[in-house]
Amino acid sequence: MSTIDFESLQKLFPSTDEVPVEARLSSPIHQRVSLVDGELRPWVGTCKTVLSPVCVRQPDGEVQQLAIGSYPVMGELESDAALDAAVRAYDAGRGEWPTMTVAQRIGCMQDFIKRMVAQRAQIVNLIMWEIGKSLTDSQKEFDRTVTYMLATIDALKDLDNSNSRFVIAEGTIGLIRRTPLGVVLCMGPYNYPLNETFATLIPALLMGNTVVFKPPQYGTLLFYPLLEAFRDAFPKGVINTIYAPGAVVVPHMLASGKINVLALIGSSKVADHLKKQHPKSHRLRAILGLDAKNAAIILPDADLELTVKECLLGALSFNGQRCTALKMLLVHRSIVELFLKRFTEELAKLKVGMPWEHGVSITPLPGMHRTAYMTEAIDDAKAKGAGVVNNSGGVFCKTLFYPAVVYPVSEGMMLYREEQFGPIIPVAPFDDVETALEYVTASDHGQQVSIFGSDPTQIGALVDPLVNQVCRVNLNCQCQRGPDVFPFAGRKDSAEGTLSVTDALRAFSIRSMVAAKQTDNSKALLEAIVIDRDSKFVNTGFIL
Ligand code: G3H
Repeated sequence: MSTIDFESLQKLFPSTDEVPVEARLSSPIHQRVSLVDGELRPWVGTCKTVLSPVCVRQPDGEVQQLAIGSYPVMGELESDAALDAAVRAYDAGRGEWPTMTVAQRIGCMQDFIKRMVAQRAQIVNLIMWEIGKSLTDSQKEFDRTVTYMLATIDALKDLDNSNSRFVIAEGTIGLIRRTPLGVVLCMGPYNYPLNETFATLIPALLMGNTVVFKPPQYGTLLFYPLLEAFRDAFPKGVINTIYAPGAVVVPHMLASGKINVLALIGSSKVADHLKKQHPKSHRLRAILGLDAKNAAIILPDADLELTVKECLLGALSFNGQRCTALKMLLVHRSIVELFLKRFTEELAKLKVGMPWEHGVSITPLPGMHRTAYMTEAIDDAKAKGAGVVNNSGGVFCKTLFYPAVVYPVSEGMMLYREEQFGPIIPVAPFDDVETALEYVTASDHGQQVSIFGSDPTQIGALVDPLVNQVCRVNLNCQCQRGPDVFPFAGRKDSAEGTLSVTDALRAFSIRSMVAAKQTDNSKALLEAIVIDRDSKFVNTGFIL
């Protein structure tokens, strides 16, 4: 690639006419409704303009983030209305939704999926324009989410079918099923606005909970095409939306004591603050995906080409804006020079450009505050003795930031411990593997780690302490969440609870049971309830 500088980055931004027709948004979306109590309620108050990470070149040559629409900025009054609608729909567990059979709830969800799939093109386009994710990755996010929803339905059928029978122990007959928890406040992140939001929203709904949903700060408009589908596929009040600054309405909703589950993908600092707002914190279940700073430990006998490929993907997919991204590379000193040479050579081949471009890897960040943070972190490392070792690393124009490989990063630099969540790759050398282990042990984060090497004895000895520090140790591959049937969890400041297709159903429910003495009278009573279909809970039906 030719030299990257401010001017060459600036030229990558198109003028409005240069945006390919198929990638254009048909028109800006000015959302003026929110879904509450089964109605799309109009909004006439203040609105927030949505600026795309993508800048467009103006006739005078300046580039500016493109305004792609706007959405309501609500307050406590509206969050109270959304929360009260969810509370009413749950109706202390007596509402239509929590008392529906599992098969009926699945029916509603299947209807919703059909309506959602019909909106694929628009939602994919909005993901791309709202968060700057490449078209290919935006499509993957949508399709992976639908696959996740279908898999969740299958997992729920299995779960319910396996519980659809009586069990007898010590003279007691029991029928045990999973039941909802109540009202769930659901908040997803901007980097996977659809997928990670739905990874909690969908299981929460399927288990019979009602929901207040607050979209992420970047990635709000993409839910607009789904509001009618939510309204039409589910009973009123089962899903309610709120568009408001989180700091204003979220503590307020929690302080009401009416939220039973907090499902948040965000920062541990925010999660700690929010949990404390609930007047009876033991009543609040928290399902949290939080901070992470996954490290790669690169041993002297690592397959260099494979390691470079995986680390590049791990550190820079979606510009490093993944909670699972590799955010620190710990490389054995004996190979660090060679590693850096090959890593920076391969990095230089990555295509920088606009999200709709074929083969693009590096795309614009959500706002200029992010490029400012990246620059600050690099300046801090430079002031403390590190340098940028790849050509043009750290060069930026507006929202487009060229990845920087920073070496040698050490304790005391921002990049050593802070989660950069962007296109900076900190590299630190180590002499003794104990130093690398100590880095992970001393970290506040505990999501995943990657080990690159080939000696079974050394890798085996590293795995044992590491599995007690993080929740997934990846061998010779990058860190990642998928496959979605695997448990996704974290220790320390990285998570609370475990998510996967099956685990999420458990996370949003609790077992409840009906029990009776094993007497003839009880048997006759239970049999009659089942045969006459007097209860939805006491049934032995099988969902096919
Ligand atoms: O941002 C965190 C995501 O859950 C990561 O998912 O590893 O599939 O990119 P991923």
